[in-house]
Amino acid sequence: MKMGGAWLGLPVGQRLLALGHEHFSSTWRNMLYFRKFRLIVCLIGLSCAGLWAFYDLTEFCIFCEKSQDYLFPIETFRRIEGNFSQLPDVDCQKNPPFLVLLVTSSYHHIDARMAIRQTWGKERIVAGKRLVTYFLLGSTVNLRQQADITAESQKYKDIIQKNFTDTYYNLTLKTMMGIEWIHRFCNQSSFVMKTDTDVFVNVFYLTELLLRKKRTTRFFTGFLKLHEFPIRRRRSKWYVSKEEYPRKTYPPFCSGTGYVLSTDVASQIYNVSESISFIKLEDVFIGLCLAKLKIHLEELHSEQTFFPERITFSVSRFKKIVTCHEVEPSEQLSYWNHLVTETHG
Ligand SMILES: *[C@@H]1O[C@H](CO)[C@@H](O)[C@H](O)[C@H]1NC(C)=O
Ligand SMILES: *[C@@H]1O[C@H](CO)[C@@H](O)[C@H](O)[C@H]1NC(C)=O
Ligand SMILES: *[C@@H]1O[C@H](CO)[C@@H](O)[C@H](O)[C@H]1NC(C)=O
Ligand SMILES: *[C@@H]1O[C@H](CO)[C@@H](O)[C@H](O)[C@H]1NC(C)=O
Ligand SMILES: *[C@@H]1O[C@H](CO)[C@@H](O)[C@H](O)[C@H]1NC(C)=O
Repeated sequence: MKMGGAWLGLPVGQRLLALGHEHFSSTWRNMLYFRKFRLIVCLIGLSCAGLWAFYDLTEFCIFCEKSQDYLFPIETFRRIEGNFSQLPDVDCQKNPPFLVLLVTSSYHHIDARMAIRQTWGKERIVAGKRLVTYFLLGSTVNLRQQADITAESQKYKDIIQKNFTDTYYNLTLKTMMGIEWIHRFCNQSSFVMKTDTDVFVNVFYLTELLLRKKRTTRFFTGFLKLHEFPIRRRRSKWYVSKEEYPRKTYPPFCSGTGYVLSTDVASQIYNVSESISFIKLEDVFIGLCLAKLKIHLEELHSEQTFFPERITFSVSRFKKIVTCHEVEPSEQLSYWNHLVTETHG
């Protein structure tokens, strides 16, 4: 029994000891584990912060020129020096427009310009507000063509032109020429729209929505493109090499088929443009300027009104849109006539 007791007692004590040891070591292990856990949490936190900082510098911080220059010597935008070769007939100081519509065009788009002059571009007063529509052109090497443009400009007094080669890949220069014109000659206007010759613009609805929105400064709207990637396929019209644009994503921008900004934004874009790296996609370039200025894109309306693609015409539909893309000159005329006769006449 004694033996048994001792035998029993020993293991009990040992067991207790063992238990104590076990208990001790398990607390120790717990502590170790906790410390490890803390360390791991710290490490995860640190790497997150590191990654965030790294991404901030490379991916999202579009204007960290120092780090970017180190990786890619990207050229910044340079505007075309010299005077305008054609200017529209307007005195913005005396008679400031509410909205200036700037339409990128080129020599060959004469039919489209004529169609716009007869349709949405001819509208001078909408809801008591003054509207003007001007065309942005570059120069051609062909002297006869240049003479035609000069004659057209003298006749319609609605052409803005500077001396740069008119090519698709010079669209950023063309848009920035328009921004420069606003800055230098028409900063008294309230809003600017940039659009294209193959776009239909419902100037009535646009004016109505701008008046309803009641925004006057730091305003930029259109068809929002918030998460676009550069196209790296060489055969694409929008191909952009890594040399031209190394980052993986574009900043938020609005489709170049039609965007609207308050005039103060135009002046600010003009002001920062020469510190922004050049990209031939004009709408992305404007997006880069806006990111630098910390101006956020906004919707003009809760429903979609800017259509960067072709949509089927109907009066009821077009009453509630601002832009529709891929419109032929003949369609400009028919859409406009239907819209005006069925809604305003
Ligand atoms: C621009 O125009 C101004 C006045 O209209 C003139 O004095 C100046 O020489 C012109 N500059 C160029 C580069 O043609
Ligand atoms: C336009 O620029 C080119 C060079 O870029 C120059 O040779 C030409 O004389 C300029 N034309 C005018 C009208 O200023
Ligand atoms: C853009 O215009 C400039 C100035 O006229 C010209 O030197 C350049 O070649 C043009 N770029 C393209 C891609 O046509
Ligand atoms: C237009 O620009 C001029 C000169 O930069 C400036 O003095 C004026 O205040 C501006 N006007 C508006 C309405 O912003
Ligand atoms: C242009 O930028 C300078 C500094 O970069 C600033 O002082 C000035 O106010 C800006 N002008 C406009 C019109 O934004």
